[in-house]
Amino acid sequence: MDQQRIYVDHAATTPPDPRVVEAMLPYLTEQWGNPSSIYSEAREARKGLEAARRSVAEALGARPNEVIFTSGGTESDNLALRGVAYGARRRGNHIITTKIEHHAILHTAERLEQEGFRVTYLPVDGEGFVDLDALERALDDETTLVSVMYASNEVGTVQPIDEVVRIVKARDSHIAVHTDAVQAAGYLDLAGLGVDLLSLAGHKIYGLKGTGVLYVRSRTPFLPQALGGSQERDRRAGTESVAGAVGMAAALRLAEDERAQRSEHVRVLRDRLLAELPQRVPGTHITGPADADRRLPNSFSCCFERVEGEAVLLQLDLKGISASSGSACTTGSLEPSHVLLAMGVPHALARGSLRITLGQGNTEGDIDRLLDVIPDAIERLRALAPPSGRSVRA
Ligand SMILES: Cc1ncc(COP(=O)(O)O)c(C=O)c1O
Repeated sequence: MDQQRIYVDHAATTPPDPRVVEAMLPYLTEQWGNPSSIYSEAREARKGLEAARRSVAEALGARPNEVIFTSGGTESDNLALRGVAYGARRRGNHIITTKIEHHAILHTAERLEQEGFRVTYLPVDGEGFVDLDALERALDDETTLVSVMYASNEVGTVQPIDEVVRIVKARDSHIAVHTDAVQAAGYLDLAGLGVDLLSLAGHKIYGLKGTGVLYVRSRTPFLPQALGGSQERDRRAGTESVAGAVGMAAALRLAEDERAQRSEHVRVLRDRLLAELPQRVPGTHITGPADADRRLPNSFSCCFERVEGEAVLLQLDLKGISASSGSACTTGSLEPSHVLLAMGVPHALARGSLRITLGQGNTEGDIDRLLDVIPDAIERLRALAPPSGRSVRA
């Protein structure tokens, strides 16, 4: 990538850490055997796969047989919802999730509705926190699964997952709790959450795209979705990506070992944006928790009055800055983010959203440049807007 460019879209993806690539290399060159075969190349591959599984299990405070390697966050989320919905169908057909989940959850939940399941989508407050009273009211005798994301990819809100687990288990210990921890990994504690299922993606923690994990606690009702061979203890058929699993494990291990330093590095930079950007740009509304300690340390998000988020991104791109208006998956759509709308942000204001997610490569100099370039870009765009252009109060 061009040296001059500033990348501040780490919630979309992160650059692979060379240490992760190095850990994977032997499995791409010499130890390429099929781990299900019995000869020596295969045994080496199997050893690498199982060592990766043990390493992930340790990071999650889990047992190795509770770790399923997947192709990423989307597959893990699909598999969690569909696996438990069908695995526990004898007991009930009601699933609870929230209005602010990633589409990997929301679209899967919608499909399950079409297939005859009942889904409750919990509301959130103005800062993106899930309504725990609504959760308590929604639980019924048919509920088999509750899925609440650990941290928001759009506004960084960190949900009280321990509270979610407490409320659900107090009602019925058989109801499974899943959390999408794709954005939380590397910044928040993953072990000891008390959940039954947890999704991770390698490429958000300086690993590779196409790598992921679904943790499934032993004895959780679960119906496999990909059918074929007996890989992953019959829970996900298909020849395993040994290099992918090794890379995933290395990325997670580094993320856990370096969690404190990584968090501190981005927090300091992010706090400058929170403090200084609204001062430099009139009509800036920070979205997400007002208390910065209740959002991911690398997450800054806001809405600007009287501009289109897409136009801001194009202006920033011209100035060498790669940022986002929300989730990478909705870029290109002119509809405002479902997350901001669920938080009660007015439609017109939600269209002026900006998301900056910092990473380990960012520096104070990058923040200086963002604080220079963004006010300029917003001013320019507002000057271009017709005087009758949408003016918003929020
Ligand atoms: C919260 C969350 N869940 C799931 C996903 C999907 O992960 P992947 O890109 O690995 O499929 C993402 C990616 O943006 C995410 O942010």
